[in-house]
Amino acid sequence: MKKIRNIVVVGGGFMGAGIAQVFASARYRVSVFEPSGEVRDSLHERVAASLRALGRDDSVAGDIGVTDKLGAAVANADYVTEAVPEKLELKQSVFADLERLAPKTAILASNTSVIPISRITQGLASAHRMIGTHWWNPPYLVPLVEVIPSISTSEETLLETMALLASVGKEPAHVRKDVPGFVANRLQHALWREAIAMVAEGICDAKTLDRCVKNSFGLRLAVLGPLENADMVGLDLTLDIHRTIIPELDRSAGPNPYLQEQVSAGCLGFKSGEGFRTWTAAERDRLREQLNNHLVRAQQARDKPAE
Ligand SMILES: NC(=O)c1ccc[n+]([C@@H]2O[C@H](COP(=O)([O-])OP(=O)(O)OC[C@H]3O[C@@H](n4cnc5c(N)ncnc54)[C@H](O)[C@@H]3O)[C@@H](O)[C@H]2O)c1
Repeated sequence: MKKIRNIVVVGGGFMGAGIAQVFASARYRVSVFEPSGEVRDSLHERVAASLRALGRDDSVAGDIGVTDKLGAAVANADYVTEAVPEKLELKQSVFADLERLAPKTAILASNTSVIPISRITQGLASAHRMIGTHWWNPPYLVPLVEVIPSISTSEETLLETMALLASVGKEPAHVRKDVPGFVANRLQHALWREAIAMVAEGICDAKTLDRCVKNSFGLRLAVLGPLENADMVGLDLTLDIHRTIIPELDRSAGPNPYLQEQVSAGCLGFKSGEGFRTWTAAERDRLREQLNNHLVRAQQARDKPAE
């Protein structure tokens, strides 16, 4: 396998900065290409602040190169990952630029959340070196990165990408089919679809629904996956339960009308103060802090040497 040394992140927003932080912390040479001056100017401080919050040396942040020149940024790249907004046409044009500007041997990865990789790389001549790597938020605290080859991706690109991600302490998971949403977002949004349908039908309110999840199977999920859970309780019991419940679950083919109505009314959640629930600034801050503390504790537990 070739030695990956120079890594370029295209897009230095929320995910791009976090991904750059992970690679820079593992001592890869990292540059970020970002068109917005404001985002470029804040990148070092954003990474430094997140390293300090984790109790880590923040000097690594200063090692990350930041530029508005894509050609120069990728000229010597071994591995490029884009983290630009989730718009198909934008990602297609970024990949076309990268194919033209980066060395022919460089791996080109996309951090798309749900778009099939074959749609992004369609029509490009070197799709064999293009691959999906779906990091989770925030990249330095959530271990999973889904790795999605398209039908054109080479085995070498897949293996090198898996090895690179493992070398920075991530948990790369090979997704065998390039389907929309890959594995984890398909599962997450299957749950959200049912949750929204239940609230829309008045089965319970949004706060009660979240309490039901957080105080039951949500507690177990970090150690017990759904199929481990089914094996644990028995497939015979699972079958009996499914006979009653599966026909009752929401199976609408598009977004729930209730969600569409909320968005049309300007109820966007935290950003407007009103979504499924009403949020004061203090409540939003408290929930963000609780989540961050939870993820940091989980990370510390993973870092602890086995006894
Ligand atoms: N935010 C999340 O929780 C999350 C989690 C997993 C995956 N993702 C995916 O990561 C990607 C980025 O999301 P984000 O939340 O970091 O968005 P973001 O808006 O924070 O960052 C995107 C950055 O890309 C820059 N950009 C725009 N056009 C560009 C171009 N042509 N070239 C280079 N940079 C450009 C923007 O200026 C911005 O700084 C999306 O595909 C998103 O679906 C997001």
